Amino acid sequence: MKQRVVVYKKLPEALAQRLQSEFDVSWFDRVTEANRADFIAALKTAHGMIGASLPITNAMLEGAPELKIASTISVGVDNFDLEYFRQRGLMLAHTPGVLTEATADTIFALILSTARRVVELAGYVKAGQWKGSIGEAQFGVNVHGKTLGLIGMGRIGSAVARRAHHGFGMPILYHNTRPNPETERELDARYVSKEELLAQADFVCLMLPLTPATERMIGAREFGMMKRSAIFINASRGRIVDEAALIRALQDKTIYGAGLDVFEVEPLPVESPLLTLSNVVALPHIGSATHETRLAMAELAVTNLIAGLRGEPVPHLAV
Ligand code: DGY
Repeated sequence: MKQRVVVYKKLPEALAQRLQSEFDVSWFDRVTEANRADFIAALKTAHGMIGASLPITNAMLEGAPELKIASTISVGVDNFDLEYFRQRGLMLAHTPGVLTEATADTIFALILSTARRVVELAGYVKAGQWKGSIGEAQFGVNVHGKTLGLIGMGRIGSAVARRAHHGFGMPILYHNTRPNPETERELDARYVSKEELLAQADFVCLMLPLTPATERMIGAREFGMMKRSAIFINASRGRIVDEAALIRALQDKTIYGAGLDVFEVEPLPVESPLLTLSNVVALPHIGSATHETRLAMAELAVTNLIAGLRGEPVPHLAV
């Protein structure tokens, strides 16, 4: 008898066929309130599941006694309770590596567009407001030569640091659970305390996974320690930041601006004050969202899942 798989994100055709040829598959392009009960029912007999962008609760998994592996099409695993996976002996696979460069590109897009007010001023041109040569009211701030502060220095942090060092001549400060001597050698990066980083960086870039230890670790105290000219960048997870404190810091100019790809609640509610602030560039969680990268992530997630279900070594296990 074929093993059963639940897919809860639309997959490219070739990958869908790969799964279909080996498993008995239940397909959900996405899970909404309308099909949530069907999704939970499908899990009851599933051996594997694959998808993204959906918090998977322990209650959902309690009803899935046959489950061996969940394969998420993301590097982040904050949609799962890792302790529950450990206790039940379930595998949780994810997709590190393949999205590093695309995500670092997005972070650099946020750095540049916030500093140079690209989105705001492109809107000004499109609105027909460009009537003469621009003046100080439209000036931004330099990126090249400014100090980049990275809170977290994993794969994506290092890729951002490479761009900053080689492309923009930026001195790099970083804070991490442990120093990264390779990055220090290669990129002249300097390991500093979080406090020193916040006080000295022109761009404070959050590069951490969301865990119970990092949840809301950046709040009013941290924004208060940044330079008034600092730009805050977050493309990791919104819940690492106290968003109300960020909004206050932007409104009262405690910091200069923010480039954000992630939010406490996604999609960002239309009534969020962040949408009314001209010193904010807000993106719809596009970190890894290129055709090539999303395909590579889906391929890796399918490979992880198949390996787990065949009882072979799984290339990328988070748990
Ligand atoms: C990831 O891979 O974790 C991205 O943030 C997409 O969720």
